Amino acid sequence: MPVDEAMISSAAPDTTLTAPGPILLLGAPGAGKGTQAKVLMEQWSIPQISTGDLLRALRSDPIESSSPLGQQIRNLMDSGRLVPDELVQQIVEARLQKSDTARGYVLDGFPRTLPQALWLDDMLARTDGMPPVIAVSMRVSYTDLLRRITGRRSCPVCFRIYNVYSNPPLLDTICDIDASPLVQRVDDSENVFAERIRTYEELTAPVVAHYRGQGRFAEVNGDLPVAAVNRAVSLAILGLRS
Ligand code: AP5
Repeated sequence: MPVDEAMISSAAPDTTLTAPGPILLLGAPGAGKGTQAKVLMEQWSIPQISTGDLLRALRSDPIESSSPLGQQIRNLMDSGRLVPDELVQQIVEARLQKSDTARGYVLDGFPRTLPQALWLDDMLARTDGMPPVIAVSMRVSYTDLLRRITGRRSCPVCFRIYNVYSNPPLLDTICDIDASPLVQRVDDSENVFAERIRTYEELTAPVVAHYRGQGRFAEVNGDLPVAAVNRAVSLAILGLRS
């Protein structure tokens, strides 16, 4: 879903006074993690770090994609299974070295297994000057998740995300910005969605339980419109940081 100024200013509490630190957005496939991460990124002037986007960039790299590792990543992602922990951890570690993460960042799609969560906790415990991680989980009904996933389309040129049900382009399957034909992710079919949900329940639900147990955790209703979810997420972050 595109993020515009009106959406941000109408939804956002004042976020200028507090250093946001590391924020985890948790939720099932299609819960709106990427959409909300982009709004938070604008509000707080911190980067969105999406392991899905980083892995998709890796697999579309002309050299990496033809390597055995690139092909393994493609097979796993296209079938809705997770990429090995060690590989994703290496990618996240390298990304967190960049200077734009100094005031904080939004992690979208990571951690996704309990070992990834424990690795992140350990790494952050060894990072000076960063407030502790906080986690916000978005709860969305199965029916809405399915509509969001099967309805998602994106522009391969400007990466704008649409949804044929809730946020269609002005002209059929053409990007409003640059008129490129929109594409659908291979893993956004109904069959692969079922596998992604199964993987989420088996491997990622324990991550939600882990952060809930740590106390710096909030859950919001993600079934609402984007601006309303953003308001709930922003208020949860401010509450957890106060
Ligand atoms: P990834 O890209 O992270 O996919 P995901 O977690 O399944 O999440 P999605 O990107 O599908 O959904 P989202 O929650 O971001 O929703 P969005 O905002 O786009 O991962 C893909 C694959 O990479 C994995 O399967 C795995 O193979 C691998 N991978 C990634 N991270 C990994 C890790 N840590 N470890 C191992 N493997 C990893 O919204 C979806 C749609 O809904 C859009 O069309 C949007 O416009 C619409 N929408 C959003 N919010 C709303 C709303 N409030 N109301 C109506 N529509 C809405």
